[in-house]
Amino acid sequence: MCGIVGYVGFRSVADILLDGLEQLEYRGYDSSGIAVKCDNDIKVYKAVGKLKNLREELKSHVKEFEKSTMGIGHIRWATHGAPTVLNAHPHTCTHGNLVLVHNGIIENYKELRAELEKEGCVFKSQTDTEVAAHFIAKKYDETHDLTEAVRLASKEIEGAYALCVMHNDYKDTIVATKRNAPLLVGIGEGEYLIASDVPAIIKYTKKAMYLSENQIVTVTPDSMKLIDKDGNEVQPKIELLPWEPVALSKMGYKHFMLKEIHEQPDVIRNILVGKLHTAAEPVILDEVKLTKDTLKKLTRIQIIACGTSLHAAMVGKYLLETFCGIAVDVEASSEYIYRRTVTDEHTLVIGVSQSGETADTLTAIKQAKARGSHILIITNRPDSSMAREADSLLSVNAGIEVSVAATKSYIAQLMAFYLLALYMAEIKGSTDKSIIQSIKNELMILPQKIEQVLANTDEIQKCARKYSNTKDFIYIARGINLPTALEGALKLKEISYINATGYAAGELKHGPIAMLDDTMPVLSILMKGIVYDKLLSNSEEAKARNARMIALTNSNDPKLEDLFECIIRVPEVQEFLSPIIAVIPLQLIAYYIAEFLGKDVDQPRNLAKSVTVE
Ligand code: M6R
Repeated sequence: MCGIVGYVGFRSVADILLDGLEQLEYRGYDSSGIAVKCDNDIKVYKAVGKLKNLREELKSHVKEFEKSTMGIGHIRWATHGAPTVLNAHPHTCTHGNLVLVHNGIIENYKELRAELEKEGCVFKSQTDTEVAAHFIAKKYDETHDLTEAVRLASKEIEGAYALCVMHNDYKDTIVATKRNAPLLVGIGEGEYLIASDVPAIIKYTKKAMYLSENQIVTVTPDSMKLIDKDGNEVQPKIELLPWEPVALSKMGYKHFMLKEIHEQPDVIRNILVGKLHTAAEPVILDEVKLTKDTLKKLTRIQIIACGTSLHAAMVGKYLLETFCGIAVDVEASSEYIYRRTVTDEHTLVIGVSQSGETADTLTAIKQAKARGSHILIITNRPDSSMAREADSLLSVNAGIEVSVAATKSYIAQLMAFYLLALYMAEIKGSTDKSIIQSIKNELMILPQKIEQVLANTDEIQKCARKYSNTKDFIYIARGINLPTALEGALKLKEISYINATGYAAGELKHGPIAMLDDTMPVLSILMKGIVYDKLLSNSEEAKARNARMIALTNSNDPKLEDLFECIIRVPEVQEFLSPIIAVIPLQLIAYYIAEFLGKDVDQPRNLAKSVTVE
């Protein structure tokens, strides 16, 4: 994680760096800092906590840097060393001449540090990053060439990194490089910007170049030179970013999370455009580049993802197996990458990621690609590192998701899986046409049904208030809504810090039931369908242990009144589509509980929106 920004040009640099860091705050927010070139000196300013603390810190130093037109900035999500001023970036070499910011993890930092300390380098922080500052400075002392120093050092640095480096000997030059971490260069008239992500530069230019692995770029206000790891000059691939600068606004909502929850009906409408016209017409997914013949012959799919995207993948498995009759494995990316997987050119591998930058998923995708699998990426960021690895790219178009807790991107990912499953089923002829048509019909009216849920949140708020003081929370479900239970629990724990767990209801009696007593809320996701009666029995079992029972249901079954102390109702949909409607109240319960508890809803502690370290 962490976000980095660099600028060299003619504008006052501090504002550009701070604006850029604000756009990258989703990548981390435990400390931040900037380094700016001032006459004969590089000045470094840092602060712990949110970016506003750095802004505050800078107020008393404005005179020192107001004329500066070159600098680098960083927003941190701590990996090595606590979030303190000393551990915040930028980091400097012993004499302060070389300054850098880093995103990623340097894996051989201990060995390098020991070596450098022996040679007399004085370390000030506990970070892995500081090693890079000393090490590149050492190479600079040998070569007196900053680009060459970065190139030589990066040959010996192991791990993942995006680095932005300045040296006091250079009044207007920044050198940057990357390996397994995103970095792009924005190209302006008489200025260059470097950043971890587009939002940090888009206000100034749409012309940009993404760095490929191990490339090194050197920019001055009017030049850019790109070389590869062996020092050979490379022709930059310049592209026009398909982005407009967006003012990130809460549009009157108290938090981005609430706004994003309310955007979900439109997210569904957007993704259907051009893909689903009428129930009678086939789903159009030109994004899927596998031939119809290959699709028909597919016997195995692997879906890899993390967090909320993993839950969408679990629903995807259910749909693809049910409608297409293909065996699907779903796995957390972090587990997939460190074992021998049975993945080959006959396996379709689907990577799911809101950001398209999650390090574990990206690594897993690269491994699968190397084994010859066709890679289908479902992402909200068609310009991301994962998208660049894709053979087929399914962009979900949910719009920028600011809140760390994923909501609308989850709905968009679910929609992508419904469309994909129906598309494949139609090609394979593996599901009855009438079933497919009824699902399509309901998909098209889902936005209105979600709007009904969003228009009446009284019961949800009452329930949230009632349970906001609980320490633990259990969600139970079966079948296609097991991932909904897991997602509801994840939402609650990440923004309210309540210990929430989702269970397959049938598993309750194999252990978790021991935890139940009259202090434990158990929320049962009771959607009409094949597992309804079974889940009702599981709910009875929990009630018999005095648990505080909550129902999330689309049923008017009178039996529920006695069993549950709180009942949240959603409009009726067929069971296959119920994960889409059922997750909405769960997002809202998590939101309102966190809000009642006064938590930092959009930027919960210890988290970052984009997890770019393994
Ligand atoms: O960008 P990705 O979808 O790959 O991110 C995966 C997870 O880090 C993410 O879903 C995380 O679990 C969210 N904070 C959940 O709300």
